[in-house]
Amino acid sequence: MAFNHFEVKGTRFIKGVHSGESVDYAENEFQVLNDDVYNVTFPKSGTNWMIEILNLIKHKGDVSKSSSVPIFERSPWYETVAAKELINKMESPRVLSSHLPLHTFAKSFFKSKAKIVYTMRNPKDIIVSMFHFTKILSIFEAAEDFEKFIDDFIQGQVLFGSWFEHVKGWMTMKDDSRFLFVTYEELLQDLRGCVVRLCKFLGQELDDAQIDLVVKYSTFKSMKENIMSNWSQMPADVLDQTKGSFMRKGVAGDWKNHFTVAQSEYFDKIYKEKMKDVNVNFFWEQTS
Ligand code: A3P
Repeated sequence: MAFNHFEVKGTRFIKGVHSGESVDYAENEFQVLNDDVYNVTFPKSGTNWMIEILNLIKHKGDVSKSSSVPIFERSPWYETVAAKELINKMESPRVLSSHLPLHTFAKSFFKSKAKIVYTMRNPKDIIVSMFHFTKILSIFEAAEDFEKFIDDFIQGQVLFGSWFEHVKGWMTMKDDSRFLFVTYEELLQDLRGCVVRLCKFLGQELDDAQIDLVVKYSTFKSMKENIMSNWSQMPADVLDQTKGSFMRKGVAGDWKNHFTVAQSEYFDKIYKEKMKDVNVNFFWEQTS
């Protein structure tokens, strides 16, 4: 996957979007507040979906913020260069996003009472989603060779490095009361049930009607139609949606339309080997 990048502790960052300084600040100086909520993901795992859900929960289903502020400003990725200014203007409780792996996450988090929601997705669908994403985001060279892209992903030569290391790192937090993990596939299968689980974890009391509103405004259809959530507010020279949609398909299992049988078997073999010490039965392993 070709893009102008630099590496910090094994992670590939995007030059310009991130800087050595912003990444170092995020890890060593950024002050996590006790009532912060962090939306952490490996890219293309459902980050924006979770931004929508967490902000709607925060506002008890009131859509006025989600329909007036672009999604990428509602919960900025705190490790980016642009985030500092946006975060300085935010009121608590803050919902912030991050793609950082555990080993470079804000040190101040570990002394805080802040919470993390970690969203994961079947890596084969991440590969597909990211492959298409390279065609619309100008900082990437559009990927053409899908097989090479699978290998780049396996080697950690994509943005934010190795998915395997990302997941393995964050899964060491799975029994911490400040940490909740959810999968994209569960969100698809039972969005309401996941919203209820999230509310409980966050200590947010929403009544049934408010939960219904959270669900209503965070479906794929609602977000695709919401100009503040479908990334259409991003300038076309940064994100060219004439070449493809940010809200592309929003399904599980699209990998079946992209991987050959041989590519799928090859990936599965490597997945099994790399994930053998992770004692979690991921939802996508049961459903695809
Ligand atoms: P596809 O490219 O497979 O359609 P991220 O936000 O981490 O970049 O992830 C983007 C992926 O999440 C895209 O997947 C996008 O369509 C999907 N997505 C975003 N909002 C969604 C929603 N409400 N429901 C289902 N999928 C959603």
